[in-house]
Amino acid sequence: MQNSVSGFSKFTKAEKIDWLIRNHFQNNPNAKANLERYWNADSDLQKLHDEFTENTISNFYLPFGIAPNFLINDKIHVIPMTIEESSVVAAASNAAKFWMQRGGFKANVISTTKVGQVHFMFYGESTKLNALFRAIKPQLFEQTKFITKNMEARGGGILDIELINKTSKLENYYQLYVTFETMDAMGANFINSCLEQIADFFKSCSEKIDVVMSILSNYVPDCLVRAEVSCKVDALGSHESYTGQEFADTFIQAVQIAEVEPYRAVTHNKGIMNGVDAVVLATGNDFRAVEAGVHAYAARSGTYASLTHASIEDGVFKFWIELPLALGTVGGLTGLHPLVKTALELLGNPTAKQLMEIVAVAGLAQNFAALKSLTTTGIQQGHMKMHLLNILNQFKASETEKSHLIEHFKKNTVTHTAVVEAIEKLRT
Ligand code: HMG
Repeated sequence: MQNSVSGFSKFTKAEKIDWLIRNHFQNNPNAKANLERYWNADSDLQKLHDEFTENTISNFYLPFGIAPNFLINDKIHVIPMTIEESSVVAAASNAAKFWMQRGGFKANVISTTKVGQVHFMFYGESTKLNALFRAIKPQLFEQTKFITKNMEARGGGILDIELINKTSKLENYYQLYVTFETMDAMGANFINSCLEQIADFFKSCSEKIDVVMSILSNYVPDCLVRAEVSCKVDALGSHESYTGQEFADTFIQAVQIAEVEPYRAVTHNKGIMNGVDAVVLATGNDFRAVEAGVHAYAARSGTYASLTHASIEDGVFKFWIELPLALGTVGGLTGLHPLVKTALELLGNPTAKQLMEIVAVAGLAQNFAALKSLTTTGIQQGHMKMHLLNILNQFKASETEKSHLIEHFKKNTVTHTAVVEAIEKLRT
């Protein structure tokens, strides 16, 4: 087939780029130059990045921003955020500043249990399987000792192994449902290694067992963190625009809508994930795993719903989030990526539990900022104010043009059309 290639993975980086430019960019030298512009001048650092994944031909930058003034459990944090979207870091900073003056954020980890499963088929009587499992369960632990030894020394390891009968869902389908404590590691490799070891021994115990696969689950409803803000309702008021009660009432209605209306809940939670993903990425964690687990949790009742909740009790406004988060502060990219190391150092080299708290706070703050805008000024005012620079860059505005137009839009509403008109006017 045209443009198909065999043995590509064995090419050198230069050969891969040459093949690509020849076959997909009509030998255009600009295409090659564009890839090379993003290479790091430090060849060792470039090599490190090349080797994070496969077939690397260049680097893809994302901004590394910081949001200061996060008062969490009475300690001030500067939160690192890796994100490309305008207004997210500003919104987080804005919410941090707002809550700093109202007692800050409280966060606590509820539980830290992770899950893995050996999925298998058993072609026999379930009572016999139950008896076999009971007899060999201690050996399943024993067989993984060489993997779990170090984790146990740190206080973690395998918590339990259960046999689950799933034959009502799928004929012959059973699983070993294994729970883990992985301390400061996210634990994917540890969990998968344990599961494969367990599976190997387990299948050797009966010819009627067919192991299909052994893998961790990214659904971690028992690896849960809660973050909260609260203050007197009156303290939410704005001198110019609304009373605290008016603000709180509308804000709570906005949360309630996201609790009952999935179309709104998805966008509401997307706003939360703006904050969550940005910190998860900056600290070298797996945002795909977090995304998958969080959204499954949001749908745990059978209907997709808001991850945050709000109430007023005895004149006190309370706003909180509960999130399942499997995060690590050791292993994976955390010890490899220089900027991840900087991010973790900025956070005071947190434990995994402390990082869970910080990430949950970032999500809550993001949601607070978005809902505050949505229920007062509307989202576009703040978002477009932050997006202004992107539009100006799109039109290759000079520094003089930029400072003139930024000044102009302090008094005028930013819309794409308004910016284009202002640039054109300035240039005529
Ligand atoms: P503002 O009140 O106009 O800002 O808010 P300000 O200029 O008065 O500054 C107040 C503080 O905001 C600053 O304090 C900063 O903390 C922060 P200071 O540093 O001056 O002491 N801030 C900034 N931080 C960094 N860089 C900046 C900056 N500007 C202000 N340039 C703001 C403006 C955008 C913050 C506000 O309107 C806001 O929070 N809007 C919400 C924006 C948002 O949620 N964006 C997310 C993307 S939209 C989305 O995808 C999610 C959504 O669909 C979710 C949903 O529907 O629920 C909305």
